[in-house]
Amino acid sequence: MSFRLFAIGLTASFGLAWLSVVVVPFFKLRTPSPISFQEGFDEQEGIYHPKRAGRVANGAAVYAENGCYQCHTQVIRPTYAGMDLARPDVGGLSPAVNPDGIDSRRESNVFDYSGLDFAMIGTTRTGPDLMNLVPRLKARVRQQAKDDGEEISEGVVAGRVRDYLFQHLYNPRSFARLENWSSCPSMPFLFEEREIKGQPSDDALDVTVEAGHEVVPGDRAEALVSYLLSLEHDDPVPATMDYAPAAPADDSQG
Ligand code: HEC
Repeated sequence: MSFRLFAIGLTASFGLAWLSVVVVPFFKLRTPSPISFQEGFDEQEGIYHPKRAGRVANGAAVYAENGCYQCHTQVIRPTYAGMDLARPDVGGLSPAVNPDGIDSRRESNVFDYSGLDFAMIGTTRTGPDLMNLVPRLKARVRQQAKDDGEEISEGVVAGRVRDYLFQHLYNPRSFARLENWSSCPSMPFLFEEREIKGQPSDDALDVTVEAGHEVVPGDRAEALVSYLLSLEHDDPVPATMDYAPAAPADDSQG
């Protein structure tokens, strides 16, 4: 074999793989073309545009700098690659836990990461996947209220989820639900301990510190929680993008 043939062969085998696995997907996924809902297939019309609210960009930076992605993934795998969709509250909510009674579980798609510099798909699942953290926490709060025989509005549910997240970041080992066990690291440095001047703050955490002092979220904790509150990726996608549609109701029984 001549050196020239060897060099061409080497370039072709690595170059083609690089082109098809790195370059082409990079340009295709960077600017995905909009996808429309279709009449007859979807329950709504118009262009699919996922809504995201909150301090997504700088909250994601706090998430990245504290290594949350080392233990938490953000990707709902298709069924051929894992069992995410079979679980009641990971890929969305199953009808059993969803107050709307619908199945909102779906796979992740490229639009789920829009507006972010990096897709935090994560490296391992030491902790639970966070793609649908918010629906899951809301379902948990509603269940807890139901068990306690308490009637609460959706606004109260949202407020409790927010409080839970601050408390969890400050000390993940403060919940009876896990018998005060958790290997999620605490992030007290995102909070500020200060002297109470006048009225205690509404945002003060339920923790014991020196008398006359309170713990309140710092700016980075606010940004991180705002980002965590945007982790809700179970909105309906166009049928053309939904590779795991809910099974149609079985009408054959009449
Ligand atoms: C060493 C691995 C590890 C790291 C790093 C880590 N976590 Fe966790 N996390 C866990 C484990 C394990 C759990 C499950 C136990 C629990 O709920 O406390 C968890 C649970 C959570 C939950 C509750 C999820 C639920 O469904 O109830 C949230 C929210 C969370 N982590 C956020 C974070 C954030 C934000 C960061 C970065 C600041 C982070 N975690 C870093 C391991 C980790």
